[in-house]
Amino acid sequence: MARIFSGIQPTGIATLGNYLGALRNWVALQQSGDECIYCLVDMHAITTFQNPAALRQQTYTMAALLLACGINPEQSIIFHQSAISAHARLGWIFNCVARMGWLNRMTQFKDKAGKDREAVSTGLFVYPNLMAADIHAYHATKVPVGDDQLQHIELANDIAEKFNHDFGVSFFPRIEPLILKETARVMSLRDGTKKMSKSDPSDQSRINMTDDADMISQKIRKAKTDTDPLPDNLAALAERPEARNLLGIFAAISGEAQEAILARFAGGGFGPFKNALAEALVAHVEPIVRRTRDYLTDTAELDRVLQAGAAKAAAIAGPITDEAERIVGFLPRG
Ligand code: TYM
Repeated sequence: MARIFSGIQPTGIATLGNYLGALRNWVALQQSGDECIYCLVDMHAITTFQNPAALRQQTYTMAALLLACGINPEQSIIFHQSAISAHARLGWIFNCVARMGWLNRMTQFKDKAGKDREAVSTGLFVYPNLMAADIHAYHATKVPVGDDQLQHIELANDIAEKFNHDFGVSFFPRIEPLILKETARVMSLRDGTKKMSKSDPSDQSRINMTDDADMISQKIRKAKTDTDPLPDNLAALAERPEARNLLGIFAAISGEAQEAILARFAGGGFGPFKNALAEALVAHVEPIVRRTRDYLTDTAELDRVLQAGAAKAAAIAGPITDEAERIVGFLPRG
């Protein structure tokens, strides 16, 4: 049995990109026979300033969404990162293993920091070290993510390799990303060359996993497309990123092959295609939105689920992190 670990930041509201790129795979993997550990990474969230009350609310909302999507706390471990000190302890050791040059190459840091490099938090810079600690504290070997996390996972492998090499051990295993090819990168509804993101200033650029039926339909109707009719083959979409993105979403949501969808709409404009896509999205997303709302009415129960998950997670991550500290040369914790 392998161990699977993944995380999501409770910043903003989860998007359809989070859902199709990661969350639905988290749910599916519960049937894989592997042990699944899913984490609300609130410590990562504060690498950019979060209003404390909003962070608490967003963490509850994310927990409710995970349950609404089908994460079963009897089957999977679900918890919030800050509940377990192992993440910070191992994260610190990894701060001392990773090299400045490695972090300087992280494209996500460059994108997030932009021209503001001198003013962003130091936490944002060392963020990938904490992410490596999240995974390695559990000796997890499989990590289901969207492809924007690939570089961070490669870095986590580099850190493990250097740790093992520096201390002459084979303590941390190699990890493997699990990426759903078709939805590895769901794109913005306003710009087919940009990732759909919780932090995009335009709400029209994304479907939020809290949007109601009217909002979903309206956003799909207004989604950017081009003026050509839909073609009858995938190759003809190579240079049409917006159409390709909508077709990818349609296929992922309906479970139908992209070619079969094209065959139905080829030769026509985007109107009927968008109507059918909106209908399929509403049918899929609306029940999740409703269940999320239900779970959110009982935050005491969400606390109970997360704290029970944290106790199970600590029982795994604690001893592994103790051993990492022993390898480094720290005295026993007692
Ligand atoms: P985060 O919170 O940005 O996103 C959570 C997951 O959603 C995926 N994702 C997407 N997939 C496809 N298309 C999109 N447009 C899209 N947007 C987001 C992300 O790839 C991710 O899988 N650093 C991570 C959180 C993290 C983590 C970890 C993940 C912290 N520690 C350990 C795995 C293992 C992040 O910021 O994800």
